[in-house]
Amino acid sequence: MDKINIAIDGPAGAGKSTVAKKVADYLRYIYIDTGAMYRALTWKAIQEKLDLNSDEQLSKRLHQMKIDLQPSPQGQKVFVDGEEVTDQIRQRDVTNQVSTVATHYKVREGMLLLQRELAENKGIVMDGRDIATHVLPDAEVKIFLSASIEMRAKRRFLEFQAKGVEHDLEQLKKEISLRDQQDSEREIAPLRKAPDAIEIDSSNLSIDEVVEKILQMVNESKKRSN
Ligand code: DC
Repeated sequence: MDKINIAIDGPAGAGKSTVAKKVADYLRYIYIDTGAMYRALTWKAIQEKLDLNSDEQLSKRLHQMKIDLQPSPQGQKVFVDGEEVTDQIRQRDVTNQVSTVATHYKVREGMLLLQRELAENKGIVMDGRDIATHVLPDAEVKIFLSASIEMRAKRRFLEFQAKGVEHDLEQLKKEISLRDQQDSEREIAPLRKAPDAIEIDSSNLSIDEVVEKILQMVNESKKRSN
């Protein structure tokens, strides 16, 4: 059966990456975490003390670097110029500055080209903020995954706890809200639900329930095109 592309957008902590990975595994599709690509650039820029407010510096660096996303049984691994940075890109300094890097026009243009190239042959589940609205407007299935801020902060809190990292729940809530605000209010490709995307509120759903809904949508889309 012909492969399709699936776009999953939504705010931080709505469960996009967990759900997208499960859907991709089930369908034997490739999962692409576009947030990891913005994080990889942010990590490199911090390492090299680039100006995070300079679109010129950041986009130039992006053109010269190689970002690889590789699936593994432990989850997606991220490499920058051959160096594994899977854990580094999740650290707090990167998390709190990635939205600033993601505001820039040329940076986004560069990312968009890379992401479209990755999706060229279909069979992709791509998650991010602007996938259905800008990167893959022709994706056959478009989902906007939301959840309440309380639930999103709690999920992040539990994720950190599982890794043995202590965090303050209220502080996490503030950091996520700030990132939501920056991602939704930026001028270029802000976080928005595409008019033809289906919204799934995951606040009171399990991961498997969300995955099930998406797989149903995939089946319906395939039926329509046959
Ligand atoms: O999904 P995430 O939290 O790893 O994403 C990190 C940041 O990257 C997010 O705060 C905004 C930015 N981002 C974006 O602007 N567009 C995307 N398609 C994906 C992420």
